Amino acid sequence: MNFQQPNVKNFKRYTVTTALPYANGPIHIGHLAGVYVPADIYVRYLRSTNQDVVFIGGSDEHGVPITIKARQLGVTPQDIVDRYHEIIKKSFEDFGISLDIYSRTTNQVHHETASEFFKKLYDTGKFIEKTTEQYFDEANNQFLADRYITGECPHCHNLNAYGDQCEQCGTSLNATDLINPKSAISGNTPILKETKHWYLPLNEYDDFFKQWILEEHKEWKPNVYGQCKSWIDMGLQPRAVTRDLDWGIKVPLENSEGKVLYVWFDAPIGYISATKELRPDWEKYWKDEETKLVHFIGKDNIVFHCIIFPAMLKAEGSYILPENVPANEFLNLENDKISTSRNWAVWLHEYLQEFPNQQDVLRYVLTATAPETKDNDFTWKDFQTRNNSELLAIFGNFVNRTIVLIDKYYEGKVPECLELTTLDKEIVEEIKVIPQKVAALIEHYKFREALTEMMS
Ligand code: MF3
Ligand code: ZN
Repeated sequence: MNFQQPNVKNFKRYTVTTALPYANGPIHIGHLAGVYVPADIYVRYLRSTNQDVVFIGGSDEHGVPITIKARQLGVTPQDIVDRYHEIIKKSFEDFGISLDIYSRTTNQVHHETASEFFKKLYDTGKFIEKTTEQYFDEANNQFLADRYITGECPHCHNLNAYGDQCEQCGTSLNATDLINPKSAISGNTPILKETKHWYLPLNEYDDFFKQWILEEHKEWKPNVYGQCKSWIDMGLQPRAVTRDLDWGIKVPLENSEGKVLYVWFDAPIGYISATKELRPDWEKYWKDEETKLVHFIGKDNIVFHCIIFPAMLKAEGSYILPENVPANEFLNLENDKISTSRNWAVWLHEYLQEFPNQQDVLRYVLTATAPETKDNDFTWKDFQTRNNSELLAIFGNFVNRTIVLIDKYYEGKVPECLELTTLDKEIVEEIKVIPQKVAALIEHYKFREALTEMMS
């Protein structure tokens, strides 16, 4: 189909990123519907209009989600990431997500890129250094960073908030904000112990965020804009960007034994490292104002992509900022929250085995039910109905009749056009504008509507 560009600010090229999934489990339909399918549609559309685009993905292989899984299975974190990186990479390939690269954050290029980034912020005085009391599990003799500690969220009172974030209300937290903290390793109530860390003083970026998001990006999706506004209004706090853990990228400073970069400091830099790996001319995809940077993510990632990572990029000084962050809500499965730990999901690699060559059916259903503005529900009944009555009865039948009749009456050749009636002409005119309509919807990240338009 021949798409025409609607009139929007013209960019010379695009950098499109997909949230790097933790390599602690396989990909499920929630990941696909929220991030990878919409991003893939967007990128395929851009390529079809001959845009210069890099489409970036990879595994997020550091952080507590990985070490918790390793501990559960009694293997090393490296074993875990090696196992799941391969499963995830292959399932994206088999499903047809057209990433230009699927990298990983344990590789050399990334360790170097993230260390240099940290070092530059350190050397230019962008951090504050603070010794504070942090939670420590005496039974296991370790500090309890991030998901190693759970407790009640001081904002929405979710009882299972993590030490760095409440996934229910999306707010980013410091572990000491939690009410009734418990160690996720031993269940014990932790003690407090002094330790030194480096903080990004987000409070100093207040004016920047008020201008950049609240004034200049009113067009962001209401769910994204609204969350950002509420955090900015509450007042941003300094965020520690290092942790006391033995899995991760070592803090590149003297006297920092046992300390690594916070996973949410290193992972988004993974987008940059992957682009470096992909292209020798990577810099123009990250440092040229004429590049449009778009992050596809799920709603639990909003604070990191709209506040923390942009503050890092701003502090570093030579990078562009995201033009948009089209975050989706969550997809449930048969009315229940998808959960890797409770094994409640449709796993992509299993779907591909059970429905060989049916990638497009799943793509279609996930786009038709995409959780663009609110959480949505995937049910197998709906999958069956959409396959049978939409793809087969409507679309399939339309194509089939057209081909069969052309074959039967016109020897398989498109016949001469006879004189058109008024009604014919109206329909032809209507059809002509569909490509522009679909294009405009895709450009505005309204993939569900774009699909409806296409089908009608
Ligand atoms: N691993 C994170 C998650 O699954 C997403 C990381 S996105 C990145 O929620 F920006 F950090 F790479
Ligand atoms: Zn909360």
